Amino acid sequence: MSDPNKEFDGIRQAENPLPGWWKWGFLLGIIVGIIYAVYFHVFSGEEMADYYSSQVEEYTKQFPNKNVALESTDGSNPLRGNADAIAAGETTFKTYCVACHGPTGEGLVGPNLMDKEWLHGNTDSELYENVMKGIAMDRAKMGRGPMPPHEMSLGSEKVYQVLAWIASKNPNVLSGN
Ligand code: HEC
Repeated sequence: MSDPNKEFDGIRQAENPLPGWWKWGFLLGIIVGIIYAVYFHVFSGEEMADYYSSQVEEYTKQFPNKNVALESTDGSNPLRGNADAIAAGETTFKTYCVACHGPTGEGLVGPNLMDKEWLHGNTDSELYENVMKGIAMDRAKMGRGPMPPHEMSLGSEKVYQVLAWIASKNPNVLSGN
């Protein structure tokens, strides 16, 4: 009887050698892999994190953030005083901000936005940063929870509209940086 380790159920193990091109290709793959890993980690001078940030930079150049449609050159709100923007901003505020800051911005869970007390700055650019990026727990001062970011949900134009509305009601929001 034939060796059961070599033949089973009519299937025979022939023990043919691997084709040369396959074996050498496999070996070459391992060698190139080792050389590349040593090159990348030791000689390329580019750390993984650097490589990642250069890729992110390239991507952001190619696909600019559409949520930042409106940019300010000097930190001031480009829509400040614009009547249409103020009206639109009020509507947005009453949809997105009202639950935490109250219907007139007088404060609930979030602080009053209509007085002269500010926890995180009272200039256009500081308000813009706080609303776009939010206020994470490690920066939050009231201990009531974070302020959520609105960069993705609203984008720059709507945020500037909301801030134009707040500034139209509250003279303590200063123009600029
Ligand atoms: C889920 C609740 C919540 C929502 C929604 C929310 N906020 Fe806030 N916001 C907060 C909290 C809480 C803080 C205070 C964080 C802290 O403890 O410092 C805050 C802080 C702020 C500040 C800083 C105030 C200061 O005194 O410096 C501004 C400006 C602000 N919010 C504007 C907005 C606007 C505009 C919207 C709507 C687009 C909005 N927030 C939506 C909860 C919210």
